[in-house]
Amino acid sequence: MAMRDPSPEPGREARTDRARQLDFAPADFGPFRIESLPTGIVILWFDDPGRKVNVLDSGSLEMLQRALATIKHRSTDPRAVILASGKDGQFIAGADVKEFDRIQNPAEAEAKAKIAQELFQEFADLPYPTVAAIHGPSLGGGTELALAFRHRVASNHRNTSIGLPEVKLGILPGFGGSQRLPRLIGFTQAVSMIVSGRSVDASRAKRMGLVDDVIPHERFVPRVVEWTEALLSKPNSWKRGGPSPLDRAFETLPPLRSYVLSQARKMVLKQTGGHYPAPLEVLRVLGATYGSRLQDGLKIERKAVAKLLFTPESVNLRFIFIMSEDAKRIPSAAAALPIDSVTVLGAGTMGGEIAYLFTRAGIRVRMRDIKPEPILHSLAHAKSLFEREVARRKLTRAEMELAMARIEPVLELNGLGRTDLVLEAVVEDLTVKQQLLRDVEMQVSDDCVLATNTSSLSVRAMGRALRRPGRLAGMHFFNPAARMPLVEVIRTEATDPAARDTVVALARRIKKTPVLVRDSPGFLVNRVLMPYLSEAVGLVERGVDITVIDAELRRFGMPMGPLELLDEIGLDVARKVAHVLQEAFGARVGSTGLLDRLVAAGSLGKKSGLGFYRYENGERRGVNPTLVPAGQKSGGTKEPPLVATEEIRNRLLDAMVNEGAMALDDRVVERPEDVDLAMVLGTGFPPFRGGLLRYADEAGIGGIVERLTRRQQEGAPSGPCGKLQRMALGNEQFYR
Ligand code: NAI
Repeated sequence: MAMRDPSPEPGREARTDRARQLDFAPADFGPFRIESLPTGIVILWFDDPGRKVNVLDSGSLEMLQRALATIKHRSTDPRAVILASGKDGQFIAGADVKEFDRIQNPAEAEAKAKIAQELFQEFADLPYPTVAAIHGPSLGGGTELALAFRHRVASNHRNTSIGLPEVKLGILPGFGGSQRLPRLIGFTQAVSMIVSGRSVDASRAKRMGLVDDVIPHERFVPRVVEWTEALLSKPNSWKRGGPSPLDRAFETLPPLRSYVLSQARKMVLKQTGGHYPAPLEVLRVLGATYGSRLQDGLKIERKAVAKLLFTPESVNLRFIFIMSEDAKRIPSAAAALPIDSVTVLGAGTMGGEIAYLFTRAGIRVRMRDIKPEPILHSLAHAKSLFEREVARRKLTRAEMELAMARIEPVLELNGLGRTDLVLEAVVEDLTVKQQLLRDVEMQVSDDCVLATNTSSLSVRAMGRALRRPGRLAGMHFFNPAARMPLVEVIRTEATDPAARDTVVALARRIKKTPVLVRDSPGFLVNRVLMPYLSEAVGLVERGVDITVIDAELRRFGMPMGPLELLDEIGLDVARKVAHVLQEAFGARVGSTGLLDRLVAAGSLGKKSGLGFYRYENGERRGVNPTLVPAGQKSGGTKEPPLVATEEIRNRLLDAMVNEGAMALDDRVVERPEDVDLAMVLGTGFPPFRGGLLRYADEAGIGGIVERLTRRQQEGAPSGPCGKLQRMALGNEQFYR
């Protein structure tokens, strides 16, 4: 394509240009600004000064409408319109999810979607070329707006991605996306993109036919202007990618579409256990509207989104989403100290992956172990994690080499004078950790922060070894650290704001969600999880079928059953945590008899080949034969379950709710939101239920209290906690 250099460079235009000033008053369009180039091309800039990212809420949609009307009513038509973001590396983040909660009923939702659909249709109807210039993430409504443009070009920046993630919020694209995407990239590809909610990068978008071109991100908008000029000079010179004519022809065959839909349906049901209505509704809508008139399709789309918006699944998923977003700001990290270099002590299971996370975020890491083997293993493991990212084009090989070079492996405890933070992840032994921290404190600078990844020891007790305990905070990762999104930031009464905030900020920097937790046994997640696991173990002791228990909790929506989870965690690790909690809270944590016996017999779960299940090469091969109830061993027919499945589910969940309420009452965390977010991110508690305490509200506090009371009367070591009883009496909920 012939490119010409437009002058002056758009985006840095001289504001004195008279024609421009006469055309548009810049303040009229809120986050939008219209720049009219002397060449006759108009750039519609989107840059909301009040936000970090561009969001399509009712206010900005109204301004967009106004800006479009102004462009349309000019005396002369522009030669082309380009939509660009004024925020470097951020295109449009989608709709304002918080606004959804203010919509009163499906009719209002439908009316709102219709307004956006009609506005986007106006863009689609413009009689001259329109180009969406996508640099950075384009999500949801942003992608739908771009789809209404005749052309899309994406920058080659690695942060550029295009997606319609609405299903993750329990809805579907409601501003025309479900209709325009299949028309653009074909039925099969559109089904896969909308049902999964996954974004694609620029080059994949090009291959799919979702964008017309990928161009360098440096001087991106001027290059898009050049691209548009070239397009205008030779309107027929470019070819859109996407499905081949043969594929398209195939897609017009109803049996083929039915096949695609039924396969997708099977996959959705397998992956979601049928708990998520949105992806199924996407399939229905796409199936019903393929080949129909756009206007009819849009109507079906907006009706579907209006209906989904009011399903409990969507309400809960949005609640979790908003909490995760809020967790980027709350708690604040105002007193955080800058971090350039970190020392990780212990290169075991946790230390190795944590070192990888730090270097990945551009932080220099000294990784120390007393033995060379774990260091070598951790380096190789970090490399394999990076290799995976290189293969997915998230990283270049050169960047990977640089990141690996930022890790300095050492066997000696020295050279700590210039480190900004020391995180210990050595063996779980208080004396070892105290001695180590004492040695560390002798070497580090005055404002170096100390952190511990302990999962069960008291941070306060560890701090006793220090001259200045205020510099110590817990930074509790979950296993596998590279994948689990939660970090519990543990503060003691002594922890000073600088140490606390530095750890909070560091967690965010490595893209984890920090939840601030008071130092107390089991912190939050392990404490709340353990009574649930103990109830499951207790049922096994009573002879209840292991597979029945696991299946019931999976049916509830847990990613795996409690006994499968115990095998993953390691029965020795779980037993240790259970003992710590028993010591602190007594009998209510439940008996550890069976765990003790299994561990004594060397059955440690998946890692040892035998736990509640039996494993061969890491693959599950049925239940541990010593745990099969006697009745089942002897003969073919399975006996009816000893305990009804509903009772199994209630027992486990009630125990967890009870502990969650106690943790809240003990001010381990400040808000029910903290419990819910932590349980979803730390244990995979089903997001569509909105978290543990939201589930409790939904299930009914009164009923939970009644069941816990009855069980206590039947001999359980404890009953409903004071908080739950007070709530039941006052007819209160965790959330109003
Ligand atoms: P691990 O046994 O895999 O690794 C511990 C490493 O520390 C070993 O390589 C050992 O050689 C090294 N080490 C021992 N003394 C040392 C010293 N003085 N200086 C430097 N290195 C030393 O243990 P893992 O599982 O990584 O656990 C480490 C810490 O993380 C523990 O406090 C544990 O409670 C905690 N944690 C573990 C989780 C898990 O699931 N494994 C989850 C969350 C926290």
